[in-house]
Amino acid sequence: MRDLSPRPSDLEPIELASRDEIANVQLDRLKWSLRHAYDRVPLYRKKLEAAGVHPDDLRSLDDLAKFPFTTKQDLRDNYPFGMFAVPREEVVRIHASSGTTGRPTVVGYTTKDVDTWADVVARSIRASGGRSGDIVHVAYGYGLFTGGLGAHYGAEKMGCTVVPVSGGMTERQVRLIQDFGPDIIMVTPSYMLAILDEFRSAHVDPRQTSLKVGIFGAEPWSDGMRQQIEDAFDMHAVDIYGLSEVIGPGVANECVETKDGLHVWEDHFYPEIVDPTTGAVLPDGQRGELVFTSLTKEAMPVIRYRTRDLTRLLPGTARTMRRMEKVTGRSDDMIILRGVNVFPTQIEEQVLTCDGLSPHYQIELTRNGPTDVMAVHVEAEPDHAGEADRAAAAALLAQRIKGTVGVSVQVVVEDPGAVERSMGKAKRVVDRRPAR
Ligand code: DLL
Repeated sequence: MRDLSPRPSDLEPIELASRDEIANVQLDRLKWSLRHAYDRVPLYRKKLEAAGVHPDDLRSLDDLAKFPFTTKQDLRDNYPFGMFAVPREEVVRIHASSGTTGRPTVVGYTTKDVDTWADVVARSIRASGGRSGDIVHVAYGYGLFTGGLGAHYGAEKMGCTVVPVSGGMTERQVRLIQDFGPDIIMVTPSYMLAILDEFRSAHVDPRQTSLKVGIFGAEPWSDGMRQQIEDAFDMHAVDIYGLSEVIGPGVANECVETKDGLHVWEDHFYPEIVDPTTGAVLPDGQRGELVFTSLTKEAMPVIRYRTRDLTRLLPGTARTMRRMEKVTGRSDDMIILRGVNVFPTQIEEQVLTCDGLSPHYQIELTRNGPTDVMAVHVEAEPDHAGEADRAAAAALLAQRIKGTVGVSVQVVVEDPGAVERSMGKAKRVVDRRPAR
């Protein structure tokens, strides 16, 4: 793989700023953001008053801990436009989360917000090793989901040639990669695996493509998955993080030269880690729930938004801005199986260690009398699809999951291609347990 480290002269001055400089920018912006939210969004005024705090009470960054949290439920309760801090006419873009349960969450952007978003995605692409002039194949979905348009505007801002393919039509993805010769692909890691399958069934060597880096996010993925994708395509695989409520993709991104966690673009998004149960702020280095306060957003500021994503904050390395460790999962994705906490990514890590199994997997939860049962559905690789190979792989995977995660599971080794493919975010858990 090529060395794609950006030159220091390619970076924005704030990416090279000292911690003190960053903290000064954050404090100024935080004061503005709190005031903006308090003055213009009834929900924030009500919450702050109920908590007995006022924007003027923020004198240092640590004072933020006194302010109340915002949750997804607050956004739902104010559906569709009640969280906007500007007149609706000044909102030039709407996005929304899919909302598998209840109402979707709606977010809005002013012209300046769209521009800020493009800036942070451009910064993310540069951190990933992208350069102006690169061709960027965007296979994140376009539409209400922030992935496609977020990547698109950022890549244009970087001065790249953007190919807005969106998700789906996997054969066409492969053909366009061959014909247009992109340098970069932006897509969910699970859909990248479906694209990889398609390369193989078309008998095209994925290592021979023009791709030099993949910028993968929107769902958790393990370092084992990174290794598989990097080996299969002979390209760098870096992690991009974001959520619609905070802006979309581009809240944090790994640097290609270190790949050691995602630098949070702290000049726009102020991160905290809190204890998920008590809400107490935890020191850097400790794992907990990630909380964000927007520092520059006009249309929909968020104050201490609870992401439910679990991670920890670490000091900067390739940049001075702090890193967040790869997100292992959301608190709501955590399966409690007979008293043991299990994240799908822990299962993924073990699937990837077993020869003869493809990286596609899905977890099925059922109940047998009072006992919860977890079945891990995986696929045999085409050249390991015989009975004996499958039985050996199933036994090995069950043993590895027991040894590392600490739970007994059933492993079902399916035919190649049998596990549902995603075109966007993969559905890792199917819960068929009846409600208690
Ligand atoms: O998924 C935004 C995005 C698009 C990020 C494209 C990266 C690339 P939502 O649909 O609002 O927004 O979902 C946000 O997805 O709270 C995490 O649980 C999860 N997520 C996003 N990026 C990552 C990542 C977009 N790199 C939710 N690793 C977040 C793990 C991620 N989980």
